[in-house]
Amino acid sequence: MGKDIICRPIGIIHSEHRNPGKTPIQPVFADGCTGRAEIFHNYEKGLQDIEGFSHILILYYFHKATTQKLLVKPFLENVEHGVFATCAPGRPNHIGVSVLRLVKREDNMLFLDNIDILDGTPILDIKPHVSRFNKRESVRSGWQEKIDDQTAYKLGRRM
Ligand SMILES: C[S@@+](CC[C@H](N)C(=O)[O-])C[C@H]1O[C@@H](n2cnc3c(N)ncnc32)[C@H](O)[C@@H]1O
Repeated sequence: MGKDIICRPIGIIHSEHRNPGKTPIQPVFADGCTGRAEIFHNYEKGLQDIEGFSHILILYYFHKATTQKLLVKPFLENVEHGVFATCAPGRPNHIGVSVLRLVKREDNMLFLDNIDILDGTPILDIKPHVSRFNKRESVRSGWQEKIDDQTAYKLGRRM
C-alpha cells in the first residue's frame, strides 16, 4: 500500500447539473451544457496563457460518489467490467477527468461548454488539451466497440 496523499482543490465547478442520473456521461454527449470553473484566487496566476487553448482537461474529485468498487456496471452496458476499464465515478480515489471546450476566460473564471460534471465539484487540476500529444493510431476501445454511436448518444446524453 502506498502512502496517503493530501490534495487541496484549486477551484470549483459551477454547472447546471444537480442530478447525477440526468447528467451526460461524457463531454461528447454534453453539447450546450455550459458553466464555469472558478479557480481560487491564489491559483489564478497559473491560468496565464490558458485562453490560447480551445479545450482543457479538468481533473476533479467525484465528491458525490458513494461507492468504491473494483467491478462496476458502466452506464452504457448492463455487464460488469473492471472499474479501470470504465469511467465510472465509484472508483478508488474518485478522480474524474473531462476534456471541455474553453469558451473564454475572465480573470479567475473559465467559461466552459460540454460539461458532464455536477455543480459544486472540487477541481484538482487543469491541463491544456494538445492534439499532437493525444493523437493515436490503431486505437482499440474494448467492450465499448459493441455499442453503436446512436445507442451511445441516447444513453450517454441522459437529459
Ligand atoms: C461516467 S462519469 C465520467 C466523467 C469523466 N468524463 C471521466 O471520464 O472521468 C460522468 C458521470 O459522473 C457523475 N458525476 C459527475 N460529477 C460528479 C460528482 N462530483 N460526484 C459524483 N458523481 C458525479 C454524473 O452522473 C455523470 O453522468
